[in-house]
Amino acid sequence: MTIPATPYISRLVAAIEESATLAVDARAKALKAAGEDVIGFGAGEPDFSTPEHIVEAAAAACHVPRYHHYTPTAGLPELRDAVAEKTSRDIDAAVAPSQVLITNGAKQAVANTFAALIDPGDEVLLTAPYWVTYPETIRLANGVPIAVITDESTGFRATVDQLEAARTDRTKALLFASPQNPTGAVYSPSETEAVGRWAAENGLWVVTDDIYEQLVYGDARFSSIVRLVPELAERSVVINGVSKTYAMTGWRVGWMVGPPDLIAAAVNLQSHTTSNVDNVAQAAALAALQGDLGAAEAMREAFDRRRRRMVELLRAIPGVTCAEPLGAFYAYPNLSELLGRQVGARTPETTAELCVAILDEAKVAVVPGEAFGTPGYARLSYALGDDDLEEGLNRLTKLFS
Ligand SMILES: Cc1ncc(COP(=O)(O)O)c(C=O)c1O
Repeated sequence: MTIPATPYISRLVAAIEESATLAVDARAKALKAAGEDVIGFGAGEPDFSTPEHIVEAAAAACHVPRYHHYTPTAGLPELRDAVAEKTSRDIDAAVAPSQVLITNGAKQAVANTFAALIDPGDEVLLTAPYWVTYPETIRLANGVPIAVITDESTGFRATVDQLEAARTDRTKALLFASPQNPTGAVYSPSETEAVGRWAAENGLWVVTDDIYEQLVYGDARFSSIVRLVPELAERSVVINGVSKTYAMTGWRVGWMVGPPDLIAAAVNLQSHTTSNVDNVAQAAALAALQGDLGAAEAMREAFDRRRRRMVELLRAIPGVTCAEPLGAFYAYPNLSELLGRQVGARTPETTAELCVAILDEAKVAVVPGEAFGTPGYARLSYALGDDDLEEGLNRLTKLFS
């Protein structure tokens, strides 16, 4: 839904699409508040609590007077150091703290990156289905998002040929994300390297969103595009954060890592928009990075179990097909066979209409593929309890059988 044009709202902001994932969540929450028993598959966050040692570090940080005041926009020096070290390990190259900007979640890192990189008319390639924030932040930077449509025939992964067909002399950057939201697609190391080589050969910037790096399943492995194609170090931005790995979505700590001049420009921008990230949250993020991945691994195992169960139940619904998601915590089934059939009193012709009908008839919230640039599908998050997962999918099965 686009905000209606009024004389006083700027064209730039009026043109922003409402985040459909948040819209479904809001409608589901309103139904819940009205006493309905809604099962929400809309959430984009782990259902687990932040590990206790991280919470304790934050509680202790509340009593540190230094944290009661402004700190450097770029981030607490100790956290910048820790992120530089982590990224250096990930990409197998030296990373200086001056290459790190701590942001309000990875989302602000995405927005800062495009604002700092894009001139009017510059094109940014990304694959669809895409995370809703990418095209909007590209447009807010006066850039042009160019979506390369993928489908389940390639596991929702773009080939170099597809990317090359979409490249023009205005292409400035490629947005790369693996694992992906909403499909759970994960590129193999050789595919990642091929994409990275193609970008490097064509002088493109690569913005790589590694937020789901720890959430991969089965034989899938996360691979860092900058590690595989070291030439990209000079022309890439690595985006990451603590939200998904440590169940810390509410703390709002992410980061961007790139060449020092680009980071300095982004720090300058952030100094005029939000300044430093909340110091207590930064202290919590530091504790997360200094600790081990034990809690993250336990979460990953739970997600993996739910992933397999969700795919099994989705595939058992007549008319539904579902590619196997290999990462993140979403399934992205194809629901196009269900269109044009009666659901309750309605006959949905689009997945947007279908998802409203599903919410109203079965009290199950799923996000329509329209939100991700690919109608015909829907996203179901499996970051919810096992019982709710069973109940929600049983309701869908009943609705469509
Ligand atoms: C692909 C992707 N990148 C980044 C983010 C943002 O994460 P954060 O909570 O750190 O802003 C999300 C959140 O849903 C996401 O799905």
